[in-house]
Amino acid sequence: MTIMSASTETAPGIPDSELRPARGIDAPVWLRDLWYMALPGRELKRGKMLAKTLLGEPVLLARDADGKAFALRDICPHRGIPLSCGRFDGREVECCYHGWRFDNAGTCTCIPSLTADQPVKVERIRVRDYPIAEKHGLVWIFIGDPALADATPVPDVPGFAADAQPSHIEKMEFPCPLDDAVVGLMDPAHGPYVHRAWWWRTKSSMHEKAKKFAPSTLGFTMVRHAPSSNSFAYKLLGGKPETEIAFRLPGVRTEEITVGKHRFAGITTITPLTETSCEITQTMYWTMPWITVLKPVLRHFARTFLEQDGKIVTMQQAGLAHAPSLMLLEDADTQAKWYYRLKKEFARAKAEGREFQNPVKERVLRWRS
Ligand code: FES
Ligand SMILES: [Fe+2]
Repeated sequence: MTIMSASTETAPGIPDSELRPARGIDAPVWLRDLWYMALPGRELKRGKMLAKTLLGEPVLLARDADGKAFALRDICPHRGIPLSCGRFDGREVECCYHGWRFDNAGTCTCIPSLTADQPVKVERIRVRDYPIAEKHGLVWIFIGDPALADATPVPDVPGFAADAQPSHIEKMEFPCPLDDAVVGLMDPAHGPYVHRAWWWRTKSSMHEKAKKFAPSTLGFTMVRHAPSSNSFAYKLLGGKPETEIAFRLPGVRTEEITVGKHRFAGITTITPLTETSCEITQTMYWTMPWITVLKPVLRHFARTFLEQDGKIVTMQQAGLAHAPSLMLLEDADTQAKWYYRLKKEFARAKAEGREFQNPVKERVLRWRS
């Protein structure tokens, strides 16, 4: 698929025809050496394990008896059966085929078939373990070279301590590649068409917007501003809210809203499961007691929104199956352009063994929505 741009302004040195080149070193399906949101912490019960495909890799996720989450490659090194088909006693995972046992670091602790005089060093047998971080009630997994995990910051939820627990989580699988989900969710022009509703916005409420953007960690930020007055949902918050929205690779969007001394934060993560499916998780945190009262309403809004986005990207796949040329047009599509540029620069910097240089420049974007 190729994307053409009809923008009057192109980034220096990056022809628009390069924005979405054929898959290759510059344009992988997904980026490695980054933290991906694996699942909300509350889904991982103490002493339990579950299996999940993340970026095409089979992963066993578990929480040990002490409450520590861990992740192993979900393939037994003996004969390849998924370890998640076996048993977990809160300390060790036991393979269901021949009973080999592994601890939470993936080290083999027992091979039941060995006799006393067979000197196999079982601790030399290992299943790959993944770096894991649990923050803000979300379990993040580092996919890539584990040696790079510590130096790569885990995305933050602005305004909330790392031990803050989510007030609400909404999750959905989209049957589309990562790029289409990311671009679909950051797209500012589809609101009046896809999310048309009396309580949100209508075609007639469309007006011109101008928002200031600046580069930020692995992405860009729509700098702090008062949200548009045609958003009924913001009115529900009361007072004069201010909001700041940030996007970062690989597919993480955070939104922080402050109203007086109260704050609301949302983090939307898009995690690819396979090349043609991804999981969108919207996690919300708030300090306003009145939102808790309105939670059923909020849940309805959040669910409806996600369903509308999911439906649109699903329909889009029918067209994209024919590999058409596409357009990224003017400011309404500039965030999408930035996403492709960021992704490409990240991949290129890795391949060339140099520092990532954020390609986004501070700019005001104008569009109607
Ligand atoms: S296949 Fe796992 S112990 Fe043999
Ligand atoms: Fe949307």
